[in-house]
Amino acid sequence: MDVLVIGSTKGTGHLVVSELLGRGHGVRGMVRSREQVAALEDRGATAVLGDLEGSLDGVVEGVDAVAFCAGSGSQTGPDATLRVDLHGAVRVIDACVEAGIPRFVLLSSIAADDPMRGSAAIRHYLAAMHARDRILAASGLDATIVRPGGLTHDAGTGRIEVGVPTLPSRGSIPRADVAAVLVGCLERDDTIGATFEVIGGQTPVEEALDQVAASLS
Ligand SMILES: NC(=O)c1ccc[n+]([C@@H]2O[C@H](COP(=O)([O-])OP(=O)(O)OC[C@H]3O[C@@H](n4cnc5c(N)ncnc54)[C@H](OP(=O)(O)O)[C@@H]3O)[C@@H](O)[C@H]2O)c1
Repeated sequence: MDVLVIGSTKGTGHLVVSELLGRGHGVRGMVRSREQVAALEDRGATAVLGDLEGSLDGVVEGVDAVAFCAGSGSQTGPDATLRVDLHGAVRVIDACVEAGIPRFVLLSSIAADDPMRGSAAIRHYLAAMHARDRILAASGLDATIVRPGGLTHDAGTGRIEVGVPTLPSRGSIPRADVAAVLVGCLERDDTIGATFEVIGGQTPVEEALDQVAASLS
């Protein structure tokens, strides 16, 4: 499968690129500047220039699926959350609908189902996640929405806990495990239509995705 990764340069998206390449998929990574091209292409992916606040011309054409892992980060303020995390994602969703790219896996956040579950400081962010998840779910695309707890840089464990739709408490999870979940979902059509929360746990990723799939049947 040829997958476009949005947010390919760092964090979870960087690990999604590795996970996809390691499993034999083709990867197109979107980067914002020409200086980022070589680092991505040295890893075995193809780079495409695009910006969630600028041109997205042609970025989705020809791929089989999109993994959206980008975000404006916690230091940029609510205006960037709206411009990048919400509006940027909606523009990519619209581009997929228009170009007939069916499969879309979205990195969302725990508590995106109800922003009031989060602390006051992040409710605006959770409200943006909530809106964007609903827009994707209503888009007609073959979507899977993954809502992790707090992301860590710890090594992946391959073991998680999923909540369909929610988990009782806030937890954390290594970005590497989230990357494995996102790619696992892309490889499994039985997760299409699912929205679920995920934190570190004891269940192997594939078994946990079986639980997600079973929740849909
Ligand atoms: N932090 C948490 O605990 C947590 C918990 C749950 C969910 N999440 C979600 O997970 C997402 C990923 O977090 P992360 O820490 O793994 O990633 P990250 O290190 O913050 O990386 C963000 C990525 O988004 C890209 N990006 C930012 N603005 C862009 C724009 N205008 N156009 C195109 N790309 C843009 C960045 O590219 P550049 O290299 O060009 O900047 C980078 O590749 C967050 O945004 C959030 O929505 C986070």
